[in-house]
Amino acid sequence: MLCDPPPQAGSDWTIAQDWKAYSPAEHAVWDRLYARQSQMLKGRACEAFLRGLDALRLSRAGIPDFEDLSERLHRLTGWRVVAVPGLVPDAVFFEHLANRRFVAGRFIRKPTELDYLQEPDVFHDVFGHVPLLSDPVFADYMQAYGIGGLRAEAFGALEKLARLYWYTVEFGLIRENGALRLYGSGIVSSHGETEYALDSPSPNRIRFDLERVMRTRYRIDDYQQTYFVIDGFEELRHQTADVDFAPLYARLAGLSDIAPDAILPSDAMIARATRATTGTA
Ligand code: PHE
Ligand code: FE
Repeated sequence: MLCDPPPQAGSDWTIAQDWKAYSPAEHAVWDRLYARQSQMLKGRACEAFLRGLDALRLSRAGIPDFEDLSERLHRLTGWRVVAVPGLVPDAVFFEHLANRRFVAGRFIRKPTELDYLQEPDVFHDVFGHVPLLSDPVFADYMQAYGIGGLRAEAFGALEKLARLYWYTVEFGLIRENGALRLYGSGIVSSHGETEYALDSPSPNRIRFDLERVMRTRYRIDDYQQTYFVIDGFEELRHQTADVDFAPLYARLAGLSDIAPDAILPSDAMIARATRATTGTA
């Protein structure tokens, strides 16, 4: 369903970031989060993410100015970052991705919310998502995802496609030189989940399988019970962007959902949850 953008937003739902309006206290929240996460992510985040932080100069003090950031990013992969007032309708979100524009919230969490907040703020959206957009392969995947999103509506398959985003872009793990590393934005922007996703014996870590992922429900109110592991962004792009999802959507329509903590006999396990889960599909 399409609704109208809020009065201050354009028809594409974008607004000015209004970078000058941030207070010193707000910039200081970014700096604290940045210092804490960049420290945690050494040896935990994948190489492309760490390279992106560097290439985009995200370590400079203060909340990034989207114009500067976009200029740098555009030179690398043709992407830009645009501000939006909050959640936008699916079709608007997909349309931006399809045109290599990443929509980001401009507000920053309060100092009392460093560890947890419900709505994505500028730290999650920029620190979490933008570094990987400097990787050419991941950048292509995100654009293809947007084009695929516009197409998925006609198949009634948005929920299935959203699971792919969730378990890759937001909460994906990657195997790099034989070791597990983080790339999902929801993990790398969260102090607690950074440690949990990689080091905790609690969650399942399962080899990525497209159809399996699109059948798997997810929790939005707690750390994930299952992470899916890719072997590289080339693999991810190849299995998604290069494949016509129409037959997949048709097949998925006849298959049941899988619980967030379930393990199937066909799963290639990388780590099995230590909690006694009896998950069934
Ligand atoms: N190839 C998918 C389709 O045919 C679209 C897609 C691309 C989805 C990349 C996700 C990621 O609809
Ligand atoms: Fe996100």
